Amino acid sequence: MTRPAAFALASALALAAVGAAGCAPVVAQTAPAPAPAAATPAPAAFTLAPLPYGYDALEPVIDTATMTVHHSKHHQAYVDNLNKAVAADPALAGMTIEQLVVRAGTLPAAVRNNAGGHWNHTFFWETMAPAARVGAISPALAAAIDAQFGSMDAFKAAFKAAGTARFGSGWVWLIVGADGKLAITSTPNQDNPLMDVAEVRGTPIIGNDVWEHAYYLKYQSRRADYLDGWWQVVDWGKVSARYAAANAAR
Ligand SMILES: [Fe+2]
Repeated sequence: MTRPAAFALASALALAAVGAAGCAPVVAQTAPAPAPAAATPAPAAFTLAPLPYGYDALEPVIDTATMTVHHSKHHQAYVDNLNKAVAADPALAGMTIEQLVVRAGTLPAAVRNNAGGHWNHTFFWETMAPAARVGAISPALAAAIDAQFGSMDAFKAAFKAAGTARFGSGWVWLIVGADGKLAITSTPNQDNPLMDVAEVRGTPIIGNDVWEHAYYLKYQSRRADYLDGWWQVVDWGKVSARYAAANAAR
């Protein structure tokens, strides 16, 4: 059928339908209503980035199985559950992870816990590097640690004490406070020092995960041994850059 012919036929059918509707009694609609078009799902607000190194890159300090499960299962679950929680509350649409974290005390527990879980783990992966590739501490940070704690060894001992004292699950942190001074603090669950609910607030520059899922396969109940060994894979170059940025932002 040519296009003009098809147009003429369609027009005739349309006119006939109008005419029929105009004089026919109203009858119940028997044809099924067309199904609404499937809504295009919104893209997930948050995604899990790959590790900046391989799952086996922190051996023997952190074993491959622990790294694999920790990143691909635990961290993935925080991301997935955060996306679900945010999707359920339009008021949170478009917020960054940092915007969620700083107002955690005003948010539902599912958002607070999973936003913290996502932020904390991203920060944790980036705190570490393979032992052969960790950077050197900056003179400024080394001096600040000496000034605040007496020595690097004394700092590590205090950090370990805070990590072992954390009852249950949580994190231990080195932060830069509002006064510019370094401080060690610990948070429960997936809270962190950026949160409005933190007992001690500040800008984290080191964070260690002391949940059992971070160390149990290799260290079992020996959290203190995990805390001791962990320093071998702390990237002091990265930590020093964070220290400089925290001071520059004050
Ligand atoms: Fe963890």
